[in-house]
Amino acid sequence: MEHSSFPSAFSTLFGELPKETWCCSDLYKWEGFWYTSSHLPAAMAARLNFQANDSDVFLTSSMKTGTTWLKAIIPTIMNPIGRMDDDNNDPLLKRHPNELMPSLEVQLFKENPNPDLSYMSSPRLFRTHIPYPMLPESVKNSACKIVYITRDPKDTFGSLWHFFNSLVTTHGIDPWPMNEAFDSFCRGVHVFGPFHDHVLSYWKESIKRPEKILFLRYEDMRKDPKGQLRRLACFLGRPFEKEKEVDKVLWRCSLERLKNLEVNQHGADPWLGFEYKFYFRRGSVGDWKNNMSNEMKEKLDHITAMKYEGSDLGFGH
Ligand code: A3P
Repeated sequence: MEHSSFPSAFSTLFGELPKETWCCSDLYKWEGFWYTSSHLPAAMAARLNFQANDSDVFLTSSMKTGTTWLKAIIPTIMNPIGRMDDDNNDPLLKRHPNELMPSLEVQLFKENPNPDLSYMSSPRLFRTHIPYPMLPESVKNSACKIVYITRDPKDTFGSLWHFFNSLVTTHGIDPWPMNEAFDSFCRGVHVFGPFHDHVLSYWKESIKRPEKILFLRYEDMRKDPKGQLRRLACFLGRPFEKEKEVDKVLWRCSLERLKNLEVNQHGADPWLGFEYKFYFRRGSVGDWKNNMSNEMKEKLDHITAMKYEGSDLGFGH
């Protein structure tokens, strides 16, 4: 991944930060979390300059936890006519979910530390992988809503490895050895890692302020999509009135549908260069069984149990 176009002052900063190479990229540790040289200046600029509105909605997550599903669901719920509108006008037909919720660190603050966002109509929808402590103060202190999604660390790791391995191999680079990826993940070294610290940062805040942060689990979304969707819609102040609205949103945003849409089968994210099709894979709960040895499972479960101890978060089994 490339350096951003931010001032060379960052070159000095990068020289002083802990650095690791991760899947062909250099990562830098800042206040306990790992960032690429492109994401860190953007995250810092966002923290300094972003002004939240009370009506904003933030989708937050660590990578590969089901964010794309919510990048489709949240705009569909928030669109006043979107839930029952003519299917031919569904924005998802023409735009990958990445385009419906702009990212603070990947898009908006990547090339300009103080972008003019006045063109965005209310309610503004944003996404970010920035950990809770690094969020702009106005996001924490305004009445804007934060939706966080997480997933079993084992499936998150499997998804992360598949995603980046697909990216490197399609660019003619050697496959990313899974044991190397696993070792980094267990040490917390990966983009926006450590994973468990990221999750805990939002979890703790969601306990203190449930009206501010809705904490979702991918497994719950898979098991009880209607219940979780209703919960999300209520949290966003857009409760469903009719059962068929729930069905409509679920169908529109389903993995099967999105994966097969023309718009998601070709092309790449203009900001990242990542091919759109790689955002949609199996979407299974427990897919780690196809990726991990028993030894790997035991190791990651142990780390999870230790990290999440006393939190009520589960997953370490
Ligand atoms: P798998 O790699 O396990 O299949 P993210 O969106 O945070 O990058 O997470 C990617 C994971 O979410 C992938 O999991 C992907 O298949 C799954 N996913 C993407 N779109 C989805 C959808 N509409 N419904 C359910 N899962 C989805």
